[in-house]
Amino acid sequence: MATTIALITGANKGIGFETARQLGARGVTVLAGARDETRGRQAERALRDLLGDGGPGDGGPGDGGPGDAAEARFVPLDVTDAKSVQEAAGWIEQEYGYLDILVNNAGIAIRGGPPSETDLDAMREVYETNVFGVVLVTNAMLPLLRRAPAARIVNVSSEVGSITSMTDPASPLAQMPAGLAYPSSKSALNMITAMYAKELRDTPIKVNAANPGYTATDLNGHSGFRSVAEGAEASVYLATLPADGPSGILWGHLWTAGGPGDAYGPLPW
Ligand SMILES: NC(=O)c1ccc[n+]([C@@H]2O[C@H](COP(=O)([O-])OP(=O)(O)OC[C@H]3O[C@@H](n4cnc5c(N)ncnc54)[C@H](OP(=O)(O)O)[C@@H]3O)[C@@H](O)[C@H]2O)c1
Repeated sequence: MATTIALITGANKGIGFETARQLGARGVTVLAGARDETRGRQAERALRDLLGDGGPGDGGPGDGGPGDAAEARFVPLDVTDAKSVQEAAGWIEQEYGYLDILVNNAGIAIRGGPPSETDLDAMREVYETNVFGVVLVTNAMLPLLRRAPAARIVNVSSEVGSITSMTDPASPLAQMPAGLAYPSSKSALNMITAMYAKELRDTPIKVNAANPGYTATDLNGHSGFRSVAEGAEASVYLATLPADGPSGILWGHLWTAGGPGDAYGPLPW
């Protein structure tokens, strides 16, 4: 059986790194995208240590022995740089010829003020990564994804991109201060997810958006109440959906008015 290959963008730390680890632990070969060579190589080493893949001949994943197909490899990938994205796609094509799973995880947030004080340059920067970067990477990888038997695309979104939740007085999210750049970038990503799912609905490819929930990472100064292991669960679930699984939904942690909880399911757009 062919090896399952997954590309995770922004995999050098946080939820992306943990997503790579969890997929690797399931025997998936993980291509850890990172924009910085040093951070990417560090992540590759850390993943190999955690997955028991110290390289050829170590007896761990990647040695090519029976049931031992997984490996972790760093891929230089800045999602805002078209050349970098094309080179990553070319490298995957050359090394593997196909791609089963794409997790568009790379993302940035800014501490913006209220909408009336939005710094447009900062907002554009957020969109370059969280919105345009996803389109750039997805379109570059689609030819490879189409060659896999049943590819999965996961766009790492957020509950703060859910217009319904953010405006529902009963939701804890409605209590958040108003801001533009990050929440609206995730709302755009939600529509992007729905539109790719629509275009690809007659193919075996499923496209979904993941909500990790409020997770302690560098993105929020580690103020989140969920661990990265929990935060990565939604991405891993959507990346490994069976043939009868959904496409074109936002799925993940459900933060109810009753408290953080640990429920999972579809979220409203
Ligand atoms: N943490 C949360 O509570 C939460 C909640 C909902 C959704 N999310 C989403 O989850 C995803 C992962 O975030 P996180 O919390 O794990 O944050 P994080 O720890 O800050 O990790 C973000 C990752 O994205 C990478 N990245 C940023 N810009 C990039 C670019 N242009 N090209 C390639 N990689 C880039 C970062 O690389 P560098 O190390 O080089 O900066 C890093 O690896 C994001 O899409 C975020 O919006 C997070």
